[in-house]
Amino acid sequence: MQFFIDTANLDEIREAQSLGVLDGVTTNPSLIAKEVKPLTYEAFRDHIKKICEMVHGPVSAEVTTLKANEMIVEGEALAEIHENVVVKCPLTVDGIKAIKALSAKGIRTNATLIFSPNQALLAAKAGATYVSPFVGRLDDVSTDGMLLIEQIVTIFRNFEIPTQVLAASIRHPVHVVECSLLGADVATIPFKVIEQLAKHPLTDIGLQKFMDDAKALREKVVKA
Ligand code: E4P
Repeated sequence: MQFFIDTANLDEIREAQSLGVLDGVTTNPSLIAKEVKPLTYEAFRDHIKKICEMVHGPVSAEVTTLKANEMIVEGEALAEIHENVVVKCPLTVDGIKAIKALSAKGIRTNATLIFSPNQALLAAKAGATYVSPFVGRLDDVSTDGMLLIEQIVTIFRNFEIPTQVLAASIRHPVHVVECSLLGADVATIPFKVIEQLAKHPLTDIGLQKFMDDAKALREKVVKA
């Protein structure tokens, strides 16, 4: 499973990148608004460009319009920022039309705000590169977000659909484990959760004991 980071914060991207396990980045208008101030269109474009120059993988940048023809124009402009830009479109009727048109032009797309298997199927039929089912937001309303991942992965396997399942709205490490067990192609993970993935209290306790027992040896190694 590929790991994308779900943030527009450059320090978080740099830190995650330094681990050597980062495959891409996803942003959305809320994440961008937190980082780009004042938020002008030029500043937004510059910020996406900076992210693309930091990470050698897909970078999702979301359209901010609602009509298909506007999303297509905006998507084309986003795709021109950098070859790694993937245009994120909401899964509305207009979004489906925009995904179809952008895909036909060879522009990679990410269908976002997916909350049902049928929405994912429609996006895939329109040619989306990725579908983004929102796991955490479904859990928030007492609905099993992981069941949606399982359903979409099964449907795509049934029909050998090449669209990748990008699990989004990931909230904690168990989500990451479950997504990988179910066969999601990608999980986009907040920085805090990436940090949590490496942590285990038994690792800390075990390491402390090893370091205590190896104290004399360590002093010799440092002096040598
Ligand atoms: C990613 O593409 C989504 O925009 C993001 O994962 C949403 O996460 P949230 O539900 O934590 O805002």
